[in-house]
Amino acid sequence: MKTILIVYDSRTGRTQRMAERIADGVRSTGNEALLRKVTEFKSYGDLEGYEGYIFGCPTYFKDATDAMKKFLFLASQADLLRRIGGAFGSYTHIGSGAKMIYDTMEHVFGMNMVETNPFNVKEQILDSGKGDQACQDFGKTLAERL
Ligand SMILES: Cc1cc2nc3c(=O)[nH]c(=O)nc-3n(C[C@H](O)[C@H](O)[C@H](O)COP(=O)(O)O)c2cc1C
Repeated sequence: MKTILIVYDSRTGRTQRMAERIADGVRSTGNEALLRKVTEFKSYGDLEGYEGYIFGCPTYFKDATDAMKKFLFLASQADLLRRIGGAFGSYTHIGSGAKMIYDTMEHVFGMNMVETNPFNVKEQILDSGKGDQACQDFGKTLAERL
């Protein structure tokens, strides 16, 4: 059994909901998912020792959240080279927060990004409950690559 670390930020709960459903998808493969909020990380050592990493945050003002950016500076000190990675987020019109995370994981950390794009789900889809299955599928797809 391998473990994926899922780190998220969320102001009003939608991206947290995504993180929880993604974790369900990971666990459906028989692997483990550890769910943590961005603000829980104090040292880059807290990120080491996992087989996969999924980071996510919402988009506010066309940007990732400040807490996520701070977390990514911390993560840049950990050895994530060639590790399995994925990025996600919720949004209404331009999901640039998840894209910023994805690009950092790929180009700065040199991670092995499983999907070719960040996984973005619109606020309205999440609120209707119709996004849950897609989130589970995303977690499952990443875990199957471990
Ligand atoms: C003040 C404000 C600014 C926002 N800016 C953007 C934006 O630039 N692009 C976008 O796609 N969504 C934007 N949104 C929508 C949020 O990304 C969306 O509500 C998201 O689901 C919130 O996620 P959370 O519940 O995890 O905080 C904004 C929302 C608010 C309240």
